[in-house]
Amino acid sequence: MEHSVKHESRARLTKDGIRIYNDADFAGMRAAGKLAAEILDAMAPLVFPGQTTGEIDRVITEMVDDAGAKSATIGYKGYKHASCISVNHVVCHGIPGDKVLKDGDILNIDVTVIVDGWFGDTSRMYVAGKLPRKAERLIQVTHDALMLGIEAAKPGNTFGDIGHAIQGFVESHRMSVVRDFCGHGLGRVFHAPPNVLHYGRPGTGAVLQPGMIFTIEPMVNLGRPETKTLADDWTAVTRDKSLSAQFEHSVGVTESGVEIFTPSPTGKFHPTF
Ligand code: MF3
Ligand code: CO
Ligand code: CO
Repeated sequence: MEHSVKHESRARLTKDGIRIYNDADFAGMRAAGKLAAEILDAMAPLVFPGQTTGEIDRVITEMVDDAGAKSATIGYKGYKHASCISVNHVVCHGIPGDKVLKDGDILNIDVTVIVDGWFGDTSRMYVAGKLPRKAERLIQVTHDALMLGIEAAKPGNTFGDIGHAIQGFVESHRMSVVRDFCGHGLGRVFHAPPNVLHYGRPGTGAVLQPGMIFTIEPMVNLGRPETKTLADDWTAVTRDKSLSAQFEHSVGVTESGVEIFTPSPTGKFHPTF
């Protein structure tokens, strides 16, 4: 019967097709984000020279399971793992496996979990052993670029303002922003409108409104921005083999600014913890 269609807030979409969520939805995102961030916190002591990326992923799989949650990536477009682990010149979507970490390797661990139907998506950088000076600069700039993007995420600003904040900062440090991958709306789905570009012009794109939920996840290269995908159809690497870094938070726009759903519960988001 047509009048039984529910007009709940989950049905609200902007003209750009971006969903507007309510306070209860934000609570769901908070719980999902918390688990994803707790899992990343627990990975810190597991990253050391001699460790395999497969073992790190095994522990992540176990933690998701123990929490009674689900991995969003296992079974996603045929992907088989609970995390992406992207080492050195791997930009994103690195597949965990037999690869052994060596001293000075830098890596991004990206985890997305589903808790009560809500998706929590976050990633951050780690180092095996001693952090090389060039990698330290790259990681610092990438981290700060994400935080500047988050600061630009407030009602009345546009998605172009977020991209511009990130791009301007990264390029002022003579590094480059990856164009081939972007952030995304999420909520009860993994990937939804809008595409959150990490470059752009101020004042362009959709206007941010309270209730929007999305990720910001800039990938920054020491060299050129171009990427290529390997024969496994997942692993994205820098074309010029330069080092790449990434940080990701899931956020929600509030009346006054933004809420980060994936803060580190023990202050381990930044790799100098
Ligand atoms: N977590 C990634 C993101 O930030 C997506 C990974 S999809 C996978 O959007 F299948 F590669 F795991
Ligand atoms: Co994401
Ligand atoms: Co992610």
